Amino acid sequence: VDDGLALTPPMGFNNWNSTHCRAEFDETMVKGIADLFVEKGLKAAGYQYVNLDDCWALPDRDADGKLVPDPVRFPNGIKAVADYVHSKGLKFGIYTSAGTHTCDGLGFPGALGHEYSDAQQFADWGVDYLKYDNCNNQGVDAKKRYTDMRDALRATGRPIVYSICEWGVNRPWEWASDVGHLWRTTFDINDSWGSMLSIAKQNLPLDAYAKPGNWNDPDMLEVGNGGMTDTEYRSHFSLWSIMAAPLIIGADLRTADRATLDILGNREVIAVDQDPLGKQGKVISSEGGRWVIAKPMADGSRAIALFNETDRPQRIATTAKAAGLPGARAYTVRDLWQHTSRNVADTFSATVPAHGTVLVRLAADAAWASYPPAVELGQVAS
Ligand code: DGJ
Repeated sequence: VDDGLALTPPMGFNNWNSTHCRAEFDETMVKGIADLFVEKGLKAAGYQYVNLDDCWALPDRDADGKLVPDPVRFPNGIKAVADYVHSKGLKFGIYTSAGTHTCDGLGFPGALGHEYSDAQQFADWGVDYLKYDNCNNQGVDAKKRYTDMRDALRATGRPIVYSICEWGVNRPWEWASDVGHLWRTTFDINDSWGSMLSIAKQNLPLDAYAKPGNWNDPDMLEVGNGGMTDTEYRSHFSLWSIMAAPLIIGADLRTADRATLDILGNREVIAVDQDPLGKQGKVISSEGGRWVIAKPMADGSRAIALFNETDRPQRIATTAKAAGLPGARAYTVRDLWQHTSRNVADTFSATVPAHGTVLVRLAADAAWASYPPAVELGQVAS
């Protein structure tokens, strides 16, 4: 949507991937995450939204038809939590469904037929981001349901990032550029290599639809939730960044280890995701599980992912020309996980560990030097 919001992919946190509806999803958790965004440097690295998912409300609306926060999870209400998040210089997000109920059982109210009053209630609470799910939609046309809520959000006058959580079923990339700032392209991710890989493969071909204000959303991050190795989590974060995906942390940061914080906080990788040109990376080649994906960057450089889908180390090579950067005499290859740079005249390659990704930034180098025609970035530690 061309309203100046989400000019780069939204970055933040959402509780769903770590808690689902379990009791630890509560005010203490949400405030704790906001605190950690500041304390661990994640806010400074660009993470901004602290978002609630399903199960924050009571099953029944009040006598005025208003949504009622669960008094056990949120004893001080939602506005108090939003105020706390705002007091940290962060933004606050909430969730509901474009249906009669949300997705968890039939327990919680959805906004179908209540779009204007619910949107106004969210705006009154200080909501900056709405994730709008697709459950219990009564078969009403998706474009209509999502457009109705867009109009209701607009009517509040408050700038609210609008996340269409329609799972790609009605190909929202074809009709939602005017409706929402981001749209899910797949069903839910889970914390496994197979799920992450299959979602990446579904989202990669949609590169033409991403632009400032409109992002493909391959679902929230699983980094740090324990079901993948750190090598796999680096691939997950590299792929989401080169796909210009929303970077919504899904781990409970209160128990996150150093490796998790290092992955999520890698500013050189985040800069790939957040590049103002707003292009999603494109697959250049994908032979035998050896992927090369290139993303044009605002400064003319290319971010390039050498991604090894297979179960054994693979040598993956590409050239400046293949990445769309022909014509210079020399290039600098910056490894965004190792934080080292090399110069090369043309071809570069890496031995990428099983399930690993070497993520680089390739820039034309002004130097008039005789660099080696090809460089091997080397065996990357797994
Ligand atoms: C389905 C969505 O795709 C998930 O991200 C999550 O919001 C759940 N619903 C909540 O019930």
